[in-house]
Amino acid sequence: MTRILIIGATSAIAKATARRWAREGHELYLVGRDTDHLHEIAGDLKVRGAQSVQCAALDVNDFAQHAAVIDAAAGALGGLDVALIAHGTLGDQKACEQDFQAALQELNTNAISVISLLTHLANRFEAQKQGAIVVLGSVAGDRGRQSNYVYGTAKSAVATFLQGLRNRLHKSGVQVLTIKPGFVDTPMTAAFDKKGPLWSSPDAIAQEILRGIAKRRDVVYAPWFWWGVMAIIRSIPERLFKRLSL
Ligand SMILES: NC(=O)c1ccc[n+]([C@@H]2O[C@H](COP(=O)([O-])OP(=O)(O)OC[C@H]3O[C@@H](n4cnc5c(N)ncnc54)[C@H](OP(=O)(O)O)[C@@H]3O)[C@@H](O)[C@H]2O)c1
Repeated sequence: MTRILIIGATSAIAKATARRWAREGHELYLVGRDTDHLHEIAGDLKVRGAQSVQCAALDVNDFAQHAAVIDAAAGALGGLDVALIAHGTLGDQKACEQDFQAALQELNTNAISVISLLTHLANRFEAQKQGAIVVLGSVAGDRGRQSNYVYGTAKSAVATFLQGLRNRLHKSGVQVLTIKPGFVDTPMTAAFDKKGPLWSSPDAIAQEILRGIAKRRDVVYAPWFWWGVMAIIRSIPERLFKRLSL
């Protein structure tokens, strides 16, 4: 039995992952800002086989509450084996260009809140010398593009933070897993035209998350082919890249 904390548990990718964990009979602690939605998800997960499901409210930008929420989850479950951080927003890039407050909001939600949560989780996992910390990053963090570079900056910052954390926690036996999805059909991408082979489902990403934990991987591009796509994108020289409309 695994004791699992999910932060941003109303996310489509988190829900798909929780369903897989529920089928395996684990104990789940769901954290999010929409308590009605959390309780609806909790009911569904119990029906699917979860050993237990508990919920707690948190707006991730209320940094002062982070330690208390993590402590409450660990207390309720009797410890933590897996923590998944899944929340995020794909903000309005144009609005962020015009108004730094909008950019700051995006950076707080997608980077600073994650770094704060990771700071609390890392100390707990380091002390217990076991477990897995899993974070949903994005291929958008691999290279800055004009269409979403504020979001990309946040994901890039988190990816670098996770690299350092992985290096630190390796000797404690704690896995630090960065998941980098490409295009996923979720509410976050509601405004996109979702046709084409690059799109995947939340459940496909969930499968990669479970596989990544089982294989004790460090970084997982989800699906795998995004590793190749991003290797090509990263290899384009900057003097050429700056002329592209991406
Ligand atoms: N979809 C993609 O194509 C894609 C690609 C790469 C990476 N990702 C990443 O995957 C993760 C999950 O995204 P998704 O696609 O599953 O999107 P989603 O279904 O839109 O979920 C986003 C989640 O973030 C939560 N959230 C946003 N701001 C919050 C706040 N201040 N406090 C608490 N929760 C907050 C939302 O809560 P509410 O339900 O209360 O709104 C929602 O649960 C994100 O980190 C995203 O950046 C997604």
